[in-house]
Amino acid sequence: MADYKIVPARDLQGETTVPGDKSISHRYAMLASIAHGTSEIDNYSPAADCASTLCCLERLGARMQRTGQRVVIEGLGQRGFQPPEGALDAGNSGTTLRLLAGLLAGPPFESVLTGDDSLRRRPMRRIVDPLTRMGASIQAERGEFPPLRIQGGALQAIRYEMPMPSAQVKSCILLAGLYASGTTTVTEPVPTRDHTEIALAEFGCQVARTAGIATVAGGARLEAHALTVPGDLSSAVFLIAAALLLPGSELRLLNVGLNPTRTAALDFLVSMGAPIRMTGSRTVSGEARGDIEVRSAPLAGGVISGEASARMIDELPMLAALGPFTERGITILDARELRVKETDRISALVDNLRRMGARVESLPDGLIVAGHGGAGRAGGPLHGAEIDPRGDHRIAMAFAAAGLATAGETVIQDADCVAVSFPGFFDLLGSLVRH
Ligand code: S3P
Repeated sequence: MADYKIVPARDLQGETTVPGDKSISHRYAMLASIAHGTSEIDNYSPAADCASTLCCLERLGARMQRTGQRVVIEGLGQRGFQPPEGALDAGNSGTTLRLLAGLLAGPPFESVLTGDDSLRRRPMRRIVDPLTRMGASIQAERGEFPPLRIQGGALQAIRYEMPMPSAQVKSCILLAGLYASGTTTVTEPVPTRDHTEIALAEFGCQVARTAGIATVAGGARLEAHALTVPGDLSSAVFLIAAALLLPGSELRLLNVGLNPTRTAALDFLVSMGAPIRMTGSRTVSGEARGDIEVRSAPLAGGVISGEASARMIDELPMLAALGPFTERGITILDARELRVKETDRISALVDNLRRMGARVESLPDGLIVAGHGGAGRAGGPLHGAEIDPRGDHRIAMAFAAAGLATAGETVIQDADCVAVSFPGFFDLLGSLVRH
């Protein structure tokens, strides 16, 4: 795989869009496949993860046509999935595997869900336990890891209290709940992204929601729908960070998803002094979206902990890599989930920040990244380095953004991994940056 060289940049200027939201794209494709009728999805994410979802759904019998970022899916109805031949490959995508596991717990056949080396090391007991309680029979490697062999069948509704904040687990159970007799209830310790609840409502299945509790009735019928995916804020954050770091930058990102369960990282950046403005807010397909304007500014630094860590879980790599460029540094606590993402992100962040000369302390559930203490915005003693993203797209993009504001050359190894969520990231960054 190709390495990518980042050299220091002067500033970042321009107006652009980012690819469609990955989380929302997965959900639209899955619900369209089990709905009645033909759904049209616009601005579907070009991410490799979302292609994995489409591939799996095709293998289950869904017929679809993809033209650029538009996907038209002929729904099979809730009972229409066909037994797949061979294992379904979710690639690098935890969302594909965990949400599909929920959908495959109902139909009365056996299916096998697997993924790449990274996904086969990620914890699945969190979905195996509740799905088993609902009546599915699931075998996992050492009780925990993919491949998952799922024998679907008659499911009973459960009331489930999630032990960890996870939108994937919540969604998995709600989707299985569509096949269960009775009403399934999921309680979450921290409100996580609610795209599944919103998407289900768009397809005509209301999910009742009260503080931290989502409820779905079994047997609801989903009707096909036309939907448009907003830009992915979790991808936008890398461009936003680069603009903040390079003095004189002005960036405008159009049509980005601004669902309040996803915007905590923007709130944190603003609290650190980042001049970020949202304009043109509107709601389409039940999802808030709008344009984001950002200019460069000194950043104060701060602490992210408790609920906030869960609410900005995908943005934490970028925020950690901003740490050396802030005055007081950035401390991240209560983010143990980072250890079970595409890679152990705490370990990858600590290692790569140190390679750049940053002062970092590793914690079991986070990290402490020292700031420059007022010595300037040039990242203190940071220098370019060979970055090993360990195959993790968000680690690669976080250090690419940091590398633009760091003295010397930074090399992102195996940079192609960004295609997992943001194909074309380096080209887009290159088109915005001025040297
Ligand atoms: C996602 C939920 C989060 C997030 C992931 C996408 C989703 O994972 O990190 O990138 O689409 O539901 P967890 O549910 O494991 O927290």
